Amino acid sequence: MIDPKKKIKQWLERAKSEVEGNWNAMCVSTIDVNDTPDSRMVLFKEYSDDDNLIFFTNYNSKKGQDIRNNSAISATFFWDKFDTQLRIKGFVRITSREVSTKYFDSRPFASRVAAIVSNQSSKIDSYDELFEKYERLQNELSESDISCPEHWGGIEIVPTRIEFWEGHKNRLHKREVFELHEDKWETCLISP
Ligand SMILES: Cc1cc2nc3c(=O)[nH]c(=O)nc-3n(C[C@H](O)[C@H](O)[C@H](O)COP(=O)(O)O)c2cc1C
Repeated sequence: MIDPKKKIKQWLERAKSEVEGNWNAMCVSTIDVNDTPDSRMVLFKEYSDDDNLIFFTNYNSKKGQDIRNNSAISATFFWDKFDTQLRIKGFVRITSREVSTKYFDSRPFASRVAAIVSNQSSKIDSYDELFEKYERLQNELSESDISCPEHWGGIEIVPTRIEFWEGHKNRLHKREVFELHEDKWETCLISP
């Protein structure tokens, strides 16, 4: 049996080399305090030591609040070019400070300033005001003034179920499922 995490890597590598634009965009769903699902796009950025997928965000954002209350998460990729869909269901782990800081420091200066200016998901009075603050800080701050905020960093998706979906002719698609049972992956095919 192929290791499903290896297969995820293969699919992502193929997307990276052949898809134009955001090959790494995934729709991530969380569950809020009212047990209501919420979804948004984020970018897969790197693998954890366990080969899990990591994205980066503001921990105070809506999604950050959701996962503090409920660690369940799902992530879905779709690549039109290959007619493939990858679904991952699992729970989250907050990455170490070292991982977060390393990635933050690798971002362009303007993106780091934007991360500092934006209280992601909170109300603002006007977009112009936000933009002015961003421009002002870009001029006032230098490289050494900017460090990764405590509330900003990586989220690792630890999978418990993975589905590889391949579009086939006449809607007879192929669905290969892997589920973790007592630390072992079990696999089966399911009907399209
Ligand atoms: C293609 C795309 C990629 C995005 N990547 C990220 C990302 O990596 N991290 C992030 O926090 N937001 C990203 N966003 C913005 C999110 O979709 C979302 O607006 C933001 O994270 C706030 O979501 P929340 O209020 O549910 O927490 C991206 C949006 C798009 C359209």
